[in-house]
Amino acid sequence: MISGIEEKVHPEKWIIPDRVRKLSTSIIREILKFSSQPGVISFAGGLPAPELFPLDIMKKVTADVIEKHGAASMQYSLSQGIIQLREVIAERASRLGSPSGPENILITSGSQQGIEMLARAFIDPGDYILTELPTYVGALQAFNFYQARYVTVDMDSEGMLIDQVEERIKTFHPKLIYTVSNFQNPTGITMSLERREQLVELAAAYDIPLVDDNPYGDVRFSGTPLPMLKSLGGDGVVELGTFSKTFAPGLRVAWMNAPADIIKTFEKVKQASDLHTSTFCQFVLYEFISQGHLDTQIERIKKDYMAKRDIMLGALEEHFPEGITWTRPQGGLFLWVELPKHMSAKDLLDKAVELKVAYVYGTPFFPNGGGDNTMRLNFSNASPEGLVEGVKRLGKLFKDNL
Ligand SMILES: Cc1ncc(COP(=O)(O)O)c(C=O)c1O
Repeated sequence: MISGIEEKVHPEKWIIPDRVRKLSTSIIREILKFSSQPGVISFAGGLPAPELFPLDIMKKVTADVIEKHGAASMQYSLSQGIIQLREVIAERASRLGSPSGPENILITSGSQQGIEMLARAFIDPGDYILTELPTYVGALQAFNFYQARYVTVDMDSEGMLIDQVEERIKTFHPKLIYTVSNFQNPTGITMSLERREQLVELAAAYDIPLVDDNPYGDVRFSGTPLPMLKSLGGDGVVELGTFSKTFAPGLRVAWMNAPADIIKTFEKVKQASDLHTSTFCQFVLYEFISQGHLDTQIERIKKDYMAKRDIMLGALEEHFPEGITWTRPQGGLFLWVELPKHMSAKDLLDKAVELKVAYVYGTPFFPNGGGDNTMRLNFSNASPEGLVEGVKRLGKLFKDNL
């Protein structure tokens, strides 16, 4: 280093624009910091069960990638994603009711990147995005960066209240409709068939892109399967899919399924951000799927999460006092709890952590404020014993603070 240079440089004076300075760090990541302390039973994250990661199969699959694809697996590759993986994803989507070809698929580094790219492509500062209330906090984080505003629609057990959707569209002219239609993060609610049809019709009538952020659609373990928004709305719907919940989030491989022309635009948007998703990880996913492991893995996950959901629901029934309500999801990773109106889930979190149990309080999922008495519980990550013990501790805490 040049002598004396350290006294001359002042990184603290570098100018960071308001748009960036005002970004908040994810509250969930903050909560995860203390919920990962030893001995804490955490219902806070959205982490898949680590014991289900198929490590032995992965040893073989990664060796196969090197053996079969060699240097190509280490090389730069197309921004849209490797053709082999796009083909198997398109084939799977078609089989599940959304006819698609590889030209409709763009591989992203997590569906979080897909959400961010949608905002980058469609949102000017001050534009409205229509979302469910509550909605996925990670999407809000991405949208906030583009200075979006939010117009929200209440939900009941069948998802968005469609009457409100049309009224809000007419008043606010949103640039995007963003929904998590299956086993929503944070509530676990699934949109009914009738509402799906109505929503698709409305988005088409007003020419607004309908984004179905769908990480949990494959993780249905009870109830009747419903058609995906994409299979009802075709080119009117941009679907975001991911292997994070059906396989492993650490690989960061996900995709966007959209009309071919839109995919061409997104290819440029993606190129500007990271050139392409890890070639090696894409080949790993391609081998994993084409060797038939994905469907087996999804079945294992569904069986495990259904058992865990039932354990948590049973424990809630037994230990939570009257006056508290919760959802009963038919899939996914989360359920949603509403405390009596006067109770603040945020204020109670410190006491919960003293009792060595953690959750995510609801307010971050409400873009325009509210939700003080709500909280999200994850049931996929804790052990069966942990689920019961954690709910028991929360039940006592809530009884003492009713
Ligand atoms: C609704 C929703 N969208 C997107 C994501 C991000 O997933 P990925 O790991 O694919 O980026 C999550 C993760 O929890 C989620 O719940």
